[in-house]
Amino acid sequence: MISRKVLIIGGGQLARMMAQAAPSLGIEIRVLASPSDTSVLNLAEVVVGDYRNVNDVLQAAKGVDVITFDHEHVPRGVLEELLSAGHVLRPSPKSLELVQDKLHLREQLAKWGVPQPKWHGGPGNVKDMVRDFLRTGVAWPLVVKRSVGGYDGKGVWVLRDDSDLSSLDGVESPGWVVEEFCEFRQELSAQVARSPHGQGLAYQVVQTTQVDGICTNVIAPAPDIDEATGIAAQRLAMELASKSEVTGMLAVELFCMPDGQLLVNELAMRPHNSGHWSIDGAVTSQFENHLRAVLDLPLGSVKPTWPYTVMVNVLGVNPVDESVLNHVLAHDPGARVHIYGKEFKLGRKLAHVNVSDSDPSRALARAQHAADRLSGTIR
Ligand SMILES: Nc1ncnc2c1ncn2[C@@H]1O[C@H](COP(=O)(O)OP(=O)(O)O)[C@@H](O)[C@H]1O
Ligand SMILES: [Mg+2]
Repeated sequence: MISRKVLIIGGGQLARMMAQAAPSLGIEIRVLASPSDTSVLNLAEVVVGDYRNVNDVLQAAKGVDVITFDHEHVPRGVLEELLSAGHVLRPSPKSLELVQDKLHLREQLAKWGVPQPKWHGGPGNVKDMVRDFLRTGVAWPLVVKRSVGGYDGKGVWVLRDDSDLSSLDGVESPGWVVEEFCEFRQELSAQVARSPHGQGLAYQVVQTTQVDGICTNVIAPAPDIDEATGIAAQRLAMELASKSEVTGMLAVELFCMPDGQLLVNELAMRPHNSGHWSIDGAVTSQFENHLRAVLDLPLGSVKPTWPYTVMVNVLGVNPVDESVLNHVLAHDPGARVHIYGKEFKLGRKLAHVNVSDSDPSRALARAQHAADRLSGTIR
């Protein structure tokens, strides 16, 4: 019997969707989850523990072939201990450094000569840093980011002018990045899967929309970009995958500027919200390809199976009852609903809906309707 065992550190929706992709390839999944993580229950072998605690992580890692991640917050020291104990980590701690620290990423991208927003940063007093940055000729508005620990816009502040600096009062961080505010035409995401062999495949480039730092929808492929921009984004993602020696999925979040220039916002070395469309709109989903890549199996085709697939996130607005799901499923039998098995919380990502269609506006409208019902926006 073919059997390979993967430990995923972190028990959120990404772990859940990796666990859903695993059985068809005979892959077994163990997840190190916190007591409040409900997404992976009944879908994987769940070990409850703290990803910051070396003993918990070593215990969970016993007997697995490879270790991978649902988030990037595992401390460097814990990663090093796993390596010393002989475990295989994909992506490696060295690769992960790039996504664990926004300041380190900006410095490394600068060394590689990769285009990115104008920035200034370091440890120290963030207000002094903002003032120093303004003296270099950059104008308001500015974007301030904590170097570590942020996600979904938590740890990101858009400052319109001097008076907004007070929003940073009392906020602590070991480091900061201050950036020019980019008036982008659209945000794009370019995802590639890369295996230890060096096999790499690039998914079609998608358009993402963030509201208050949280992804609300994704259109695959990105409408309104010319072929050259799409290819340039894929090339850049491939290049970053090989430079960072990533194994697994890499997402490159990009700002596409009015003149077509692409600036790198940030990277993620795991399945990413911008790739959820691939479950229903590509031959092989990002979740399956992440597992194939970390196990060094041949990658699956990333070809789209529809002209357009749109993903809309379900962010909790009001608690909803069972009948809502019935309505959504009956209203549009083509809408693909993916529930994350989490308790309702205001603003929390609870599910997503994928709709494939020949027309992107219609796909968006259909997916948005289903998501609005499921989030409790429309009652
Ligand atoms: N320099 C910038 N200019 C304009 N918008 C930005 C800038 N940096 C971030 N944003 C917006 O904030 C969102 C979240 O920022 P990001 O750096 O990706 O942090 P997170 O780790 O929370 O995803 C981005 O997707 C984008 O919409
Ligand atoms: Mg981001």
